[in-house]
Amino acid sequence: MSSRRGSSTVLLPSGQTLTTFTKHSQDEEGLPHATKKTMADHLRKYEALFNLTPQRMRMVVEAFKESLELGLSKPNQVVPMIPTYVFGWPSSKEKGNYLAVDLGGTNLRVCLVTLEGEGKFQITQAKYRLTEEQKQDEGQKLFDFCGECLKAFVDTHRAEGHIGKDEVLPLGFTFSYPCAQERIDHGVLIRWTKGFGAPNTEGHDVVAMFRESLAKMSVPAEVVALTCDTTGTLIASHYVNPKTRIACIFGTGCNAAYMEHVRDIPKIAQLGIDPDMEMAINCEWGAFDSFEHENLPRTKYDQIIDETSNKPGEQAFEKLISGRYLGEILRLIICELIDEGVLFLGQNTYKLEIPYCFDTAFLSLMEMDPTDELLMIIGIFNHFFAVETTLAERQFFRALAKLVARRAARLSACGIAAIVSKMGYLDEGCSVGADGSLYNKYPNFAERIHEGLHDIFGEKGKNIVTYHAEDGSGIGSAIVAAMTKDRKTANIYPNL
Ligand code: BGC
Repeated sequence: MSSRRGSSTVLLPSGQTLTTFTKHSQDEEGLPHATKKTMADHLRKYEALFNLTPQRMRMVVEAFKESLELGLSKPNQVVPMIPTYVFGWPSSKEKGNYLAVDLGGTNLRVCLVTLEGEGKFQITQAKYRLTEEQKQDEGQKLFDFCGECLKAFVDTHRAEGHIGKDEVLPLGFTFSYPCAQERIDHGVLIRWTKGFGAPNTEGHDVVAMFRESLAKMSVPAEVVALTCDTTGTLIASHYVNPKTRIACIFGTGCNAAYMEHVRDIPKIAQLGIDPDMEMAINCEWGAFDSFEHENLPRTKYDQIIDETSNKPGEQAFEKLISGRYLGEILRLIICELIDEGVLFLGQNTYKLEIPYCFDTAFLSLMEMDPTDELLMIIGIFNHFFAVETTLAERQFFRALAKLVARRAARLSACGIAAIVSKMGYLDEGCSVGADGSLYNKYPNFAERIHEGLHDIFGEKGKNIVTYHAEDGSGIGSAIVAAMTKDRKTANIYPNL
C-alpha cells in the first residue's frame, strides 16, 4: 500500500520556518492514542465549560457597567478608570516633531514622529526586545535602558540631520501599566501587569524615574505627557477616523479607553475642571472582577493561571482574554488529559509540562491550518514538544483552541458593550479602534467580537464596529504630547 504524503511550511513566531511532512492518517492506526469518540466526548465537556450564552454575557455587561461607574465615582476601585488629563479629541491641526517612547509588554520602541496636520504624519522608529530578566530587574535599570536606547536613536537622527543640533524635543511616554495620574506628566504605578515584576517601581512616579534616566544620559528630550497604549490608540484613531469613540488593545494585555464628560467623573470634582469638558479615561478594565471573582465564568484552568501567577487575584478579566494567557489555558487542559491517561500514552511529554511553553501564536496557527490532515498541528507538536498526534487529537486541539479564543473574544465584546451601553452609543453607533496581536493576527477574533456584540444587543449590535486602529503608542503618544503643549501654551489647566 502506498502512503500519501503532504507537506506544509510556515513562519513561526520565533522567526524559524517549520516544514511538516506526514503520512496519511491510516499510518497512525498503530499508535496507542485516543480515539475519535473519546476526543469528541472530552470536547463536549470543554464546550460546556467555555461556552458563554448571550444571557450570561448580558449579566457580565451589567456587572461591568457598575464597575466602570464605581471607578469613576471613587478613587482606588477595582477597575481604576484613570483620568488621563487628555482633554477632548485632537483638532487634527497638531503639528511638529515629537519623540515617542513605548515601554510595552514585549518590546521597547522609540519613535520620531512628525505631525503634519489634517491626519497626516511621518514616523521613523527603532525596536528593542525586552528580556525576561529586564522585566524582573531593578526598576530604575529598566528606565535607564529606555534612556540608553533613546539616546542612541536621537544621536543617529541628529547625525542624519532629522533633529536639530540643539533641539530638545517634546516626548510622549507610553507606559502601558496602570498608573494613578495627578496630572499628565505624572503617574504612580499601581501594579505591574503582563508578567513584569521590576522591584522599586510600584508606588513610584514612573515619569520621575524616566526623567532621572534621561538626565543621567543627557538625552535632549522633555517628557511632556505620560499615556497608556489605549489612550494613545483612542487619540490616534480619532485623528484619522473621527467616528472613533472607544479604543481597545487585545495583545499581551488587554484594556480600553474612551472619552468621558468631566461632569461624569465625580472623583475629580475637586479639581474644578469645567464639567462640560471631555477627558479620556484609561479604564484599565483588565482588572474587572479581580479579587472577588463574582462575575466572570472562571474555569479551574483560569484559577490555576491566577494562583500561579506573580500577581494572584489581580487582572482577572485580562487573564481570561489576553495573549499572554490563552496558550497557557490550552496547555493546562492538555496536561490534565495527559495526567488522566487520555493523551500521549507511552510518549515522553516533559516538554509540554513547562509553564507558558505553549505560545498563543500556536493556537492561532492551529486554527489557520488549511490542510485536511492538519499538518501544521503535527508540526507544532512534533517540532516543539516532540510528541506524535493522531488526526482525532489534532481535530480536538483545534476545536479547543477555538473554544478558548472564542470565549476571549466574547468576553472582549462584553467589555465593549459595557462602555457602549454606559455612554449610550448603541442607537447612533460608533467605531472602536482596536490593536494588539490577538486582534490583528488571531483568525476571526474581530468577527467573534462582532458576533458577541450581536448576541448582547441583537440587531443593533451591528452598529458597533471594531476596526484596526492607528498606532497608538507611536503616533497617538506624539499627538497627546502635541495636544498637551498646545493646551499649556493656551493656558488651559496648565498645572494638570
Ligand atoms: C495594562 C494596560 C495596557 C494593556 C494593553 C494591561 O496589562 O494594565 O495599561 O493598556 O495591558 O497593553
